[in-house]
Amino acid sequence: MRSSSLVGLVAVLVCLPASAVASVPVLADATLLKKAGIPLRDFDPETGVALTELRPEQQRRLQELAHEEGRCGGFEALPAQPWLKGEDGRQALLDLRAARRRTEAEAEALRRSPGRAGTLERKPEIEAALKQVSEENLRAWVGWFSSFADRFNQGSQPNAPVEALQAKLKELVRSTPFAVSVETIAHQSTPQKSLRVRIAGKSRPKEIVVLGAHLDSINQDFWGSSPLAPGADDNASGSSNLYEALRILVQQPQPERTVEFFWYAGEESGLLGSAEIAKSYKGASQRVVAVLQLDMTLFPGSGEGTLGSMTDFTSPWLRQYFAGLNAAYIGAKIVDDQCGYGCSDHASWHRQGYPALMPFEATFGDMNHKLHTAKDLIDSSSSFRHSAMFARIALAFAMDLGNSTAQAP
Ligand code: BES
Ligand code: ZN
Repeated sequence: MRSSSLVGLVAVLVCLPASAVASVPVLADATLLKKAGIPLRDFDPETGVALTELRPEQQRRLQELAHEEGRCGGFEALPAQPWLKGEDGRQALLDLRAARRRTEAEAEALRRSPGRAGTLERKPEIEAALKQVSEENLRAWVGWFSSFADRFNQGSQPNAPVEALQAKLKELVRSTPFAVSVETIAHQSTPQKSLRVRIAGKSRPKEIVVLGAHLDSINQDFWGSSPLAPGADDNASGSSNLYEALRILVQQPQPERTVEFFWYAGEESGLLGSAEIAKSYKGASQRVVAVLQLDMTLFPGSGEGTLGSMTDFTSPWLRQYFAGLNAAYIGAKIVDDQCGYGCSDHASWHRQGYPALMPFEATFGDMNHKLHTAKDLIDSSSSFRHSAMFARIALAFAMDLGNSTAQAP
């Protein structure tokens, strides 16, 4: 049983939510809730997901049960998600059902006409751009992000790293020959802001390609002696991959589609920034054609060059497209896996019906277990060669999808 092993114990510790002190609304697997003897407040028979409120001891019981089944958290969405309260909780159940139906229809459409996965045409300008990705730049950026005491959305200076990065991004795009905007996005659910860089599309500006990473970090190590949250792997790594991809992208011709880069606020407290952003895009009927999420890319737990591709809360079409992109440009070994719950910001976009992709440093079981502790630093286990692969994925994703007409069936 996994929870009796040391690995399991470490996983239990790092996965305990910061909010384990109050009663919190969650969406969780109904079978698991029933097993734990927890009453359901609302239930969707189609997805098997239920809405309930959990007291701290119930959260722990559910987490233990989930860990016995080999999953971190066990919630479809972990606690501290204010938008799950009241009517919004009901809406979240409905959104999830709609997302599940769309995903099934997409998978069915792919089965009917399998397309040409793995036969994506190589473009010399993309190959040339990919060669410019620098491991040394990534090392410097991960060091920079992890040098803040924390990037916690509930910390004393939640916007210090946001404003510092904004200044660096403005500097980066200052002399770009086409318009690039750099803005902060304020939120209802957290004082921390998200950052967005937008490159307007030349011929099809209404079609949006999104690339994102969460900028915040958290320390959930109750037994640790340090309050620092350097979050080198989680998620200075993905944040740095995006900066490196953007640095090279702005030296290329203006893309045909709009390409947006996000550094999200408050992911660790419940996908807060991305939930608000994806919801507002849906509300404004924005056409987001694809979403890439990079969250943890520095620890080659399943071997250098091997990545885990999450199959839950992601799009079958985009995963098939990614297989083709990988064959043409990257050459990673892709292992399909699942988080088992909405483990990062891709879930926010998926929930609103947008096609999302989540390539991860390793399989779920092989991930870096120093996450959410003061020990999540650059160390001998870090591989910038491995992480550079994800910067190349981001750049190829932006350049290829940004100039194509590909979209979900
Ligand atoms: N990067 C982590 C989690 C993660 C683990 C992603 C394994 C992919 C594979 C992420 O920042 C995180 O900690 N997410 C929360 C979920 C959120 C809803 C609070 C988590 O997993 O506890
Ligand atoms: Zn993360």
